[in-house]
Amino acid sequence: MDKTKRSAVIAGNWKMNMTPSQTGAFIKELAPKVAGLDGCKVVLCVPYVDIAAAVEAAKGTNIEIGAENVHWAEKGAYTGEISGAMLSECGVKYVIVGHSERRQYFGETDVTVNERVKAGLSNGLKVILCVGETLTEREQGVTYETVARQTKIALLGVSADELKNVIIAYEPVWAIGTGKTATAEQAEEVCAQIRGVIADIYCEACAEATTIQYGGSMNAKNAAELLSMKNIDGGLIGGASLKSDDFTVIVKAAQ
Ligand code: 13P
Repeated sequence: MDKTKRSAVIAGNWKMNMTPSQTGAFIKELAPKVAGLDGCKVVLCVPYVDIAAAVEAAKGTNIEIGAENVHWAEKGAYTGEISGAMLSECGVKYVIVGHSERRQYFGETDVTVNERVKAGLSNGLKVILCVGETLTEREQGVTYETVARQTKIALLGVSADELKNVIIAYEPVWAIGTGKTATAEQAEEVCAQIRGVIADIYCEACAEATTIQYGGSMNAKNAAELLSMKNIDGGLIGGASLKSDDFTVIVKAAQ
């Protein structure tokens, strides 16, 4: 397994935080801190209404902008939803799909996650696909079964060529926003298992080339250890992506 074959990606997931004016100010503050840190891609996934401000503020920097979800249809009667075409026209490059908060609070299923993954890809977006077990699933010993099922269904109908635009984020639900990080060994074990699932569905080389992130209370203190593991190629960062100094430390740890 050669980590250097894969792109390292540190992505912030702002969730429901920041207004457009706060977005512009934050990116202006962050940009000089991460300038020249070219050893990993730096992405901020922001609320829909912040996208225009984020894209504008990120012009000429090494920060790329993502969205937090995408609808599966091209257009139509889906009140409150946003299509892939809308996102890409706004300058969005990445989209998070299947976050556990969407699964938990908004009825997202493995099947709708699959539909959204395909919509993101067909609109030229890079998809950050989130998978992860709940505490109950971990305690019941079905972590592998859970992430394998989520990964397989999410990637149904996705070709090996399209897989190049998929990043998988392993986010144990019990570690999100709780301050309880998975140990580096726990995170590494599951990320390696996910890579094995990719090898089974596609091929060894496809699995070796796939970027797998860890997410769940990753912060300035624990990032270096997590990112040193051989199957962890980046991070999907919630709380710590709202603080430019902490986020910068994580980006530096991925260099
Ligand atoms: P926290 O980093 O706040 O735990 O959130 C992780 C997450 O859900 C990123 O998508």
